[in-house]
Order: sequence, then C-alpha cells, then structure tokens
Amino acid sequence: MLRFVIFAFLCGHSFSAVPVAAFLDQHCVECHDADVKKGGLDLTSLTFDRLDSSTLKSWQHIFERVRNGEMPPNKQPQPEKNEKDLFLAALNEPLLKTDQADIAANGRVRSRRLTRVEYEHTLHDLLGIDIPLKTLLPEDRASHGFETVAATRLTPSITHPRC
Ligand code: HEC
Repeated sequence: MLRFVIFAFLCGHSFSAVPVAAFLDQHCVECHDADVKKGGLDLTSLTFDRLDSSTLKSWQHIFERVRNGEMPPNKQPQPEKNEKDLFLAALNEPLLKTDQADIAANGRVRSRRLTRVEYEHTLHDLLGIDIPLKTLLPEDRASHGFETVAATRLTPSITHPRC
C-alpha cells in the first residue's frame, strides 16, 4: 500500500503522482522515512502537492540522484530501467516549468556575461596571443546602456513561462 498522501493537482506544474509515489515507496522510503531519514531526507513529509519554490530543491535532488544512478545506493536492489524512465519522465517537465516560473517570479543571481572586449582580453591572456579578435565576435546587445545586464540575455521561454 502506498504510504503517501496524494493531493489533488491544480496546475501544470504538478506531476503524475502515482508512478512517482509508487517508485519512491518501493525503492526509497525504507531509508528515507521520518524515522530513518538517511541524509536528512524524509520523503514521507515531502508534499505531493503541486511543486513550488519550497519543495523544488528537494525534488531536483531526488531527480538528479536517481537519474545519475546514485539512489538507491548501488548495493541495494536497483529499479528496472523502464520503471526508472517512467519516474524521471513524470518529474522532468513539471520540474523544468516550476524552475522557470520560479526564476520569473523570484529572479535568480545570474552570471554576468563578458562583453566582446572582455572576452578578447580573456582569450589574449589565456592563449598568449595579441591578434585583434573583437571584430570576429558577435556584437554585444545594448540593454539600458549596460552591456552586461544578464536579464536582457535570457531566452524568451525563461522570461515568459507558459503556465
Ligand atoms: C539503503 C538506504 C537508501 C535507500 C534505499 C535510498 N537512499 Fe537516498 N540516501 C541514503 C543515504 C545513506 C544518504 C546520505 C548519503 C548520500 O547523500 O549519499 C542518502 C541521500 C539521499 C539524498 C540526498 C539528500 C538531500 O536532501 O539532498 C537524496 C535526494 C536521496 N538520498 C534520494 C533517494 C531516492 C530518490 C531513493 C530511491 C530511488 C533513495 N534515496 C534510496 C540511503 C538510501
């Protein structure tokens, strides 16, 4: 029997709970319930409600550890490949959408891009060369007078999530 409470899903960011819950119940909960809680992770307290910023990180960790074949630990019985694929497929899109919506709503510390001139200097330093490269590089897009404002360089799918 499933030990998870399954909530009703309201938005596109939810995932198909049954394969996800069944997978976790079968392969994970023995080490990740409220008592054992290996690595500090209690899966039984993690809501299956729609994903949001507060649970996103946990679900991303779960997804990555399973995808990378790190969980269940390799001395444990491993899930069948198609079972694992189904689990990852059920989580993949909702995780992406939630991540994008989260960035749109809360912003994120974005890495600053190099301008053409900075890029040229970096290449000169790295390669020990002195030939002008700036003209070979694509033009910097101007944005509010600052060349390095990362926000204007985001792709439209990130700045305008669909849900
Ligand atoms: C036999 C026990 C065992 C089983 C079964 C198991 N884990 Fe773990 N898990 C651990 C241990 C021990 C750690 C802490 C060490 C580490 O991080 O590798 C851990 C850590 C983790 C973490 C990191 C904690 C965090 O919050 O970042 C995640 C995520 C995780 N497990 C997910 C899973 C998932 C998903 C499954 C099932 C597919 C699973 N585990 C099955 C023992 C287990």
